[in-house]
Amino acid sequence: MKRYFIHTFGCQMNVNDTLRMSEVLGRMEYVPTPTPENADLIILNTCAIREKAEEKMLSALGRYRPIKLSRGALIGVGGCVAQQEKQKLLKKVPYIDFVFGPDAIAKLPEMVQKVRTERARVVETAWIDSEEYVFPRADPETSRGKVTEFVTVMKGCDNVCSFCVVPHTRGREVSRPFVEVLGEVRDLVSVGVREVTLIGQNVNSYRGGISFAQLLLRVAEVPGILRVRFTTSHPHDLSDELIDAFRTQPKIAPHFHLPVQCGSDEVLERMKRDYTIAEYLERLEKLRAARPGIAVTTDIIVGFPGETEEDFEQTMRLTEQVRFENQFSFIFSPRPKTVAGLKEAEWGAIPHEVKIARLERLQKLQRSISGEIMQAQVGKEVEVLVEGASRFDSGRRFGRTPENRTVNFDGDAPAGSVVKVKVERASPNALSGVMTTMIEPPPDVKPPVRESFALPVLAEA
Ligand code: SAH
Ligand code: SF4
Ligand code: F3S
Repeated sequence: MKRYFIHTFGCQMNVNDTLRMSEVLGRMEYVPTPTPENADLIILNTCAIREKAEEKMLSALGRYRPIKLSRGALIGVGGCVAQQEKQKLLKKVPYIDFVFGPDAIAKLPEMVQKVRTERARVVETAWIDSEEYVFPRADPETSRGKVTEFVTVMKGCDNVCSFCVVPHTRGREVSRPFVEVLGEVRDLVSVGVREVTLIGQNVNSYRGGISFAQLLLRVAEVPGILRVRFTTSHPHDLSDELIDAFRTQPKIAPHFHLPVQCGSDEVLERMKRDYTIAEYLERLEKLRAARPGIAVTTDIIVGFPGETEEDFEQTMRLTEQVRFENQFSFIFSPRPKTVAGLKEAEWGAIPHEVKIARLERLQKLQRSISGEIMQAQVGKEVEVLVEGASRFDSGRRFGRTPENRTVNFDGDAPAGSVVKVKVERASPNALSGVMTTMIEPPPDVKPPVRESFALPVLAEA
């Protein structure tokens, strides 16, 4: 019996891909280990979105090198950096045994075999950019015992946002046929999953036989499903049909992650985002009218090339105006092969200290808005889907509200149950309270046989 350890960086696609890798390895008689020190195979599932993400990969590789030297562990690099760098990565890091892109997960057995028997270094980064691509079907056993799970609905991205590396690392958009998506959701319900998040880089442009709005409605109707979520959406493709789905189907959870990136039309133009702030606000207004109280979160890039003080002030004003529930904000990082990466100097690179100062101001503002929104929940009773023990205090329970707010609470509620919690305290990140009512017991399913199955998933942004 050999052991594997997977270190996962990046977004939900990578977290999901890691689960698929663990299934392929499981069929090869590999078992997961939570510590790399006793692994025979170490895989890094990498992210290329910002320079920092790549640096983290390199420093992790450095930490794993002694394990290779001491016990001959194989080291493989998958994910977006692998897809981007291909064989160059083998040159850069001489102790990597194999490099494979996101479309090559099914080839893991061949790659590992080849490395082992031929002592060869292997690169598998071919893309399958057509409807012929077969999405790997999740093994429901991987998710037994879990309350929420991701379901892939598409891969790749056809947009050309000037800052973004994803089209280079994930290729063209391919949608997964809706029948497969529904089949996977049913499988997940059969092992106890109650909430699914449909994932893709731009789910609004889904074309798997029905529209994305229709897909959401169909998933919501799968018996046993309590909540449906999705991520990510491009504001340009946010259709009236999708907004209507929020009006008619309460199981579509009242949370919308709608990355705006910045508050200035001039910057948006250079970003090639294809909408104006007025258009973004118009979409949002319609969405909030369709589902009052919907929590809206966003992504922001500060210090984009040529961003003036006034451009940045517009981002601050937009943040105040929209009152986002939360923001994921980053400083611009020039990426290889992207237009903004190539034209950074021409458009005007923003000095690092200025980027950092702007980021800190924005994050401070957002923290206070998030704090106020959460504080307004104190005294209320909220509905919580229980996910398990609290991460900070194993004597308490943890779950989320429909708006995706984190709740830690006192009470005896098994994972998978739905309860009411009276909120007593709030921080910008989480609510805290006591359980008052059991609304729905957990589904009656067998517990997992392989409890540690998902253990080596270690996600890092
Ligand atoms: N498909 C999603 C975005 C995925 S990347 C969408 O279009 O909304 C997640 C976030 O990373 C982006 O929304 C953006 O805010 C950030 N990001 C992407 N490229 C970046 C770069 N070069 N520098 C800094 N942040 C970046
Ligand atoms: Fe990147 Fe834009 Fe595609 Fe999002 S929509 S993945 S930011 S190119
Ligand atoms: Fe995701 Fe990072 Fe790739 S954000 S798609 S893992 S570049």
